Amino acid sequence: MIEQVLDEVSTVTDAAVAEIVACDELATLDAVVSRHRSKKSGLGAIKSRLGSLDQVEDRKRAGAAVNEAYTRIEQAVEERRAVLADAAINATIDAEAMDLTEHRRPSTRGHLHLVTQAWERLEDVFVGLGFTVAEGPEVETDWHNFEALNMSEGHPARGEFDTLFVDHVPPGGTPGATLLRTHTSPVQIRTMLTSEPPIYVIAPGRVFRRDTPDATHMPVFHQIEGLVIDRGISMADLAGTIEAFTKEFFGAGFTSRLRPSYFPFTEPSAEFDIRRPDGSWLELGGCGMVHPEVLRAGGIDPEEWSGFAFGFGIDRMAVMRHQVADIRDMYSNDIRFIEQF
Ligand code: PHE
Repeated sequence: MIEQVLDEVSTVTDAAVAEIVACDELATLDAVVSRHRSKKSGLGAIKSRLGSLDQVEDRKRAGAAVNEAYTRIEQAVEERRAVLADAAINATIDAEAMDLTEHRRPSTRGHLHLVTQAWERLEDVFVGLGFTVAEGPEVETDWHNFEALNMSEGHPARGEFDTLFVDHVPPGGTPGATLLRTHTSPVQIRTMLTSEPPIYVIAPGRVFRRDTPDATHMPVFHQIEGLVIDRGISMADLAGTIEAFTKEFFGAGFTSRLRPSYFPFTEPSAEFDIRRPDGSWLELGGCGMVHPEVLRAGGIDPEEWSGFAFGFGIDRMAVMRHQVADIRDMYSNDIRFIEQF
């Protein structure tokens, strides 16, 4: 009788351990465990029958065997639980791990902004022609931007520059006399005031006008100014310089022409156009002989010195070169646009 009970204990225990080891999820293991702990399960049922053994010795042996069986099962459960818990953690780690190789691509190189490219090419060409590069502030005084350029208060030409004013009032200055420069021409004044002739400078830079953006206009754009002051400078020098620039920048098949025009700060004044190899003309910018009043404002004696100045837009150069349909695209930071160049 006792042998049979001991056999039963070991069979039930082996089966339970096998079942525990086979569990591959914590939830199934929990279910198996609670089944084995119930009083009606294998070991529980055996335990409740121990009282029917006649011999005290047999009852003791069988009781000890059952307790040992419980211990074996608990041990198997703990081992299995540890294995499954590790597996669960590892699965979570794998699932939540960031795949840092995911966005790896062959590295690509960016490029300078189209306007910067045009700006730098223009500088290169003019430096090659003997000019140096001058700079001025983007926030200007009314005096440098207008007054010194022969556009006094109330001059009708001021109306053509849709000026953006700045609230700042410099010490001793008048309210409304600080502005965002509407052209690069104030750099002419600053250069004349800070250097002695002969002067051969270009001044590329950012300019501002109160304009609603459309396909051909931006309120912020770029110009390049040219200023030459020397003895005996004439309109022929201006035309020759524009022509040399045209050939150098656009190519040997291009030529230029001057057309009479008007600017308050030059006299005579002209617009200059570029003739493409196909015979079509492109308006480029304004130019002329520096007005005597402007020379005087720059501290230069018009009896001794004369000079010419020119100015044109840089953004349009980039637009033309790359056939950009809408100038706003150049400032949209849209990678699909930028990647084309
Ligand atoms: N400053 C003028 C403009 O913005 C261009 C210009 C520059 C004209 C120099 C003549 C001489 O339109």
